[in-house]
Amino acid sequence: MTYRRYSKYSIENPRVWAIGQDKDAPLEVPQLIQLLKNYGIRKGNLLDMGCGVGSHVYEFSKKGFEARGEDADPAKITFAQERWPELDFGVGDMRKLDAVKRYGAILCINSILVFNETNQEVLQTLKNFHRALKKKGLLIVEMSNPFHYIKDKSFKETFVDRGKDRRAFGLKVDYEEDVNPDRQTMISKRTFYRLDNEKKVGVFRKETRMFFPQELQFFLEQAGFSVEGIFGGIGGRKGLRGARRILAVGRKK
Ligand SMILES: C[S@@+](CC[C@H](N)C(=O)[O-])C[C@H]1O[C@@H](n2cnc3c(N)ncnc32)[C@H](O)[C@@H]1O
Repeated sequence: MTYRRYSKYSIENPRVWAIGQDKDAPLEVPQLIQLLKNYGIRKGNLLDMGCGVGSHVYEFSKKGFEARGEDADPAKITFAQERWPELDFGVGDMRKLDAVKRYGAILCINSILVFNETNQEVLQTLKNFHRALKKKGLLIVEMSNPFHYIKDKSFKETFVDRGKDRRAFGLKVDYEEDVNPDRQTMISKRTFYRLDNEKKVGVFRKETRMFFPQELQFFLEQAGFSVEGIFGGIGGRKGLRGARRILAVGRKK
């Protein structure tokens, strides 16, 4: 992924991204802490890889975890460092992580692994995570569930987001999601319009690879993990039918 200068309205603009992540993190972190506990991890240090603007790191640190956040996007990391100078953030690419036996857990949540384009990159990233974990350390990866996108065609409908946050920016957003079966990718497109005069002010398009559960399991095992569970989403719900998200827990053998 290359990082361009952001349009003011781009969803990747740290200020815009923070609106959503700040809302999600306080809900997701307690669920993630419960999940870690279920696998024997109560405290300790963890890495949030692809941490975005750092809201999850902030919530984890409030709960007594020693959390570090890394993201490949320098703008998001600068934003996080300015907001929480006392916390630990750094620019980092998952494909180049070179830490050794440093973390009790690594989290890769809200679609990070999907930015690896080739199978070699996926394997390299997972091997990096494996090396960076302490013995018996836990890896949590979470992303879109391809079954949902293939079975439930309703995702293809476009819808307009006129939510409070968007209104605060004076905007509405058209969402479009699609799959490209040739490239086995998901395409998300957001078009931003001004609310007052309907003028188009920006388009954000993202194409990322998809992972089926067995494929994910295979990659994790190849990288040296035992797969402890594959669930539908962060809430740890069992079963993948209809679930929008997929979450896998791997343990360093
Ligand atoms: C959908 S966002 C999720 C951010 C955050 N985890 C959250 O829950 O809001 C995906 C993030 O992955 C980051 N990313 C993309 N490629 C990456 C890479 N190779 N290494 C690390 N982070 C990457 C992007 O910069 C972006 O912040």
